Amino acid sequence: MSRTGKVCLIGAGPGDPELLTLRALRMLQEADAVVYDRLVSPEILALAPDTARRLFVGKAPKHHPVPQDEINALLAELALNGYSVARLKGGDPLIFGRGSEEAAHLTSLGIPVEYAPGITAAQGAAAATGVPLTHRGLASGVRYVTGHRQADGVLDLDWASLADPDTTLVVYMGVANIAQIAMCLMAEGLPGSTPVMAIANATTPRETRLFSSLERIAPDTCAANLSAPVLFVIGRVVKLCADWPAVEFLSSEETETRTVIARAAHA
Ligand SMILES: C[S@@+](CC[C@H](N)C(=O)[O-])C[C@H]1O[C@@H](n2cnc3c(N)ncnc32)[C@H](O)[C@@H]1O
Repeated sequence: MSRTGKVCLIGAGPGDPELLTLRALRMLQEADAVVYDRLVSPEILALAPDTARRLFVGKAPKHHPVPQDEINALLAELALNGYSVARLKGGDPLIFGRGSEEAAHLTSLGIPVEYAPGITAAQGAAAATGVPLTHRGLASGVRYVTGHRQADGVLDLDWASLADPDTTLVVYMGVANIAQIAMCLMAEGLPGSTPVMAIANATTPRETRLFSSLERIAPDTCAANLSAPVLFVIGRVVKLCADWPAVEFLSSEETETRTVIARAAHA
């Protein structure tokens, strides 16, 4: 190969291969090399041609993640050597996916970049559980926030604006900081009784759901020992899930007994 190739930034969705877009599938099938993350399911990876090189750049258990600079350099090297590269990322590459950093590096070198959007974890979780992200009378908007800062820095979100009972809050990468997140939201006035769903491995056969309240979500998450990846959906819309406990939470003592862990029907 000699001519400059290209890099396709492809959203693989939250796990279920049926959630891949047709464009993503075509780009994947046309790839000479696939560079993929930990959250990409094996079923999706299997859709790439057998002849395509497969390069894992995610964070393996007990190993450091491949530094972003090295991933950028690898993508550039492959494309400059003429490869048509499928850069596969979980969910959507432009939502907490660092896709824009990779694209900026590649375009600065004159390497063509194309995109295939993916279904982000929040939307996958919504469809899997029947918890809408917006709902007339319950949530007039939705916000996606990260619950994690680079190098474990301070989580300095705009808590006052996030503590809005009329907006659904979706927290990505929030397990380690869920106690702080819940505390800061309550300190800004969001009621402790606000419903919360934690969902692990949404849209996969390993999907697990935990229902709780803002004041209970930290200890409940700890007790449930959910396996990554985990997403939190905070807001009144959570009550619309068929799995939501039939009787509403009345006090903190009662919330403890009403926490429900349900495994998905497709498990
Ligand atoms: C680095 S972010 C990547 C987000 C991804 N780009 C997206 O659009 O969904 C990783 C976080 O996404 C969430 N996530 C991704 N896939 C998930 C899934 N299948 N179930 C639950 N959470 C998921 C978790 O919060 C996880 O810590």
